[in-house]
Amino acid sequence: MTTNWTENSWRNFPIKQQPAYENLAELKKVEATLAAYPALVSFDEVEKLKSELALVAKGEAFLLQGGDCAESFTEFSHDNLKNFFRTVMQMTIALMYGLNKPIVKVGRIAGQYAKPRSDDNETINGVTLPSYRGDIINGIEFEKNSRVPDPKRLIESYFYSAASLNYLRSLALGGYGNLQKVNKWNEEFAHSLNSKKNTEEVIAKVNEILNFMKACGLDSKLLPQLTTASFFTSHEALLLNYEEALTRQNKDSKKFYDLSAHMLWIGDRTRNPEEAHVEFMRGISNPMAFKVGPSISKDDLLKLLDVLNPDNEAGRITLIARMGAGKVEQYLPSLVEAVKQSGKTVVWSCDPMHGNTIKSSNGYKTRKFDDILSEIKTFFQIHRAAGTYAGGVHFEMTGQNVTECLGGNQQISEINLSDRYHTHCDPRLNSSQSVELAFMIAQDLQKEITSC
Ligand code: PEP
Ligand code: CO
Repeated sequence: MTTNWTENSWRNFPIKQQPAYENLAELKKVEATLAAYPALVSFDEVEKLKSELALVAKGEAFLLQGGDCAESFTEFSHDNLKNFFRTVMQMTIALMYGLNKPIVKVGRIAGQYAKPRSDDNETINGVTLPSYRGDIINGIEFEKNSRVPDPKRLIESYFYSAASLNYLRSLALGGYGNLQKVNKWNEEFAHSLNSKKNTEEVIAKVNEILNFMKACGLDSKLLPQLTTASFFTSHEALLLNYEEALTRQNKDSKKFYDLSAHMLWIGDRTRNPEEAHVEFMRGISNPMAFKVGPSISKDDLLKLLDVLNPDNEAGRITLIARMGAGKVEQYLPSLVEAVKQSGKTVVWSCDPMHGNTIKSSNGYKTRKFDDILSEIKTFFQIHRAAGTYAGGVHFEMTGQNVTECLGGNQQISEINLSDRYHTHCDPRLNSSQSVELAFMIAQDLQKEITSC
C-alpha cells in the first residue's frame, strides 16, 4: 500500500505549470461538483488496459497511442471523432499485420485539454496576457477576458470528454471499425499514394483472409473479433484539481484510480520526483507514463520508477522517449541500458513529435515527416542493439486533412502550412501522414523489432 498518500497530498508539494485561479471559492465548488459526478471510465477497464500493457512489456503486443496535442472545444465534432477513430483503425491493421502482434490502442483523447507552456505570458504587439493553457483552463483568443483561468471549464471539459468517450465506445463496439471496412479504407488510401510498395502486401493479404473466410462460410461481419475493437483513453495529468476530483476508491481492493481516463502521463516539464505531479500519480493505480526527454538524468529516471512502481508491476509504467531525431542516438542508449540493468519492467514507447518541433520560415510551428520517421527508426535500432523491446509509438495526430507537419506522400511544404493549420498547440500528423507512417513501421521497421 502507498504510504502517506491521499488524493490531495499533492497539494503539499511544489507544483509547476498551473493556472493562477482568481476565484478560489468557485474552484472549490467545481471540484466538489466533479467529485460527485460519475467517473468517465471504470476500474475494470483501467485494469484491462494494464493487463494489455503488461503484454506489451513482455514483447507480446504493441502500443499505438495518439491524438491531438491539445483537444479543443471548437474542434469537437462528430466527423472529427469518427475520422480520428477511422485513422487509428487503419494504422492498427497495418501495424498488426506487419508486426504480427495485437495492437493496444490508446487515444490522446476525451480529456487532453490541459497544456504545459514554455512561458507563463504571451506578448503580441506590446500587449502581454497570460498564456493559453488549454481549453480546460482558459480560452485561446488573445483577449484579456478569455485568458483568465475559469474554473467552470473543468466541468465543460468533463462533459466534452464524456460525449467523446460515448461516441468512441459506440464506434469501437458497434462495428464501425470492422476488418472489411478498414481494409477498404486502406485500399482507398493506397490509391492516393505515389508509391504503393508499403501497402500492397498488407491489403492483398487481408483481402485473401476475408475471401478465405467467406469460402468457409464465415461472415466476417458477424465475428466479434473482427468487428469490435478495444479502445482506451489517455491524457496528460497536468491539472491536478481535475484529476483529484475524478479519483475514486475501489471499495473491494481499497486502491485509488483516477477515472478521468484509462491511462495518464506526466509531462517532461512536471516529472520532478520531489514535486506534486509525481506525488499524485504514485498513489493511483492506473497504468501511467512519463516523458523521457534529453534533460532527464539516469538517477531521476530510476528514482521515478521506484517511486511510481515500487512493486515493479508489469503494465503500470510506460516510458515515452521524446528526444528528437538529432539527439536520440546520444541520450537514449544509456537510459535503456540503465533500465535494463535495474530489472524494472517497463514499456518503452517512442514519441517522435516533441523533440522535432521547428519554426518554418513563414512563422509556423511545424515538424518534418522525415525527422519523425528518423527518430522512430533510431529508437527501434537502439532497442535492437540493447536486446530490449521497442514497444510502442506515441503520435500527435488527427483524422482531419490538416496541413501542420511538412512532407509525407502529400509533400506538404512551407507554403501549404497556412491552408489548414488548425491546431491549438503543436502541429499534428494528418490522417494520410499517420497511416503512411504506420505502413512504414509495419514494412520497414518490423525487422528492427526483437522480442526480448
Ligand atoms: C505533449 O505530449 O503534448 C507534451 C507537452 O509533451 P512533453 O511533456 O514531452 O513536452
Ligand atoms: Co504537444
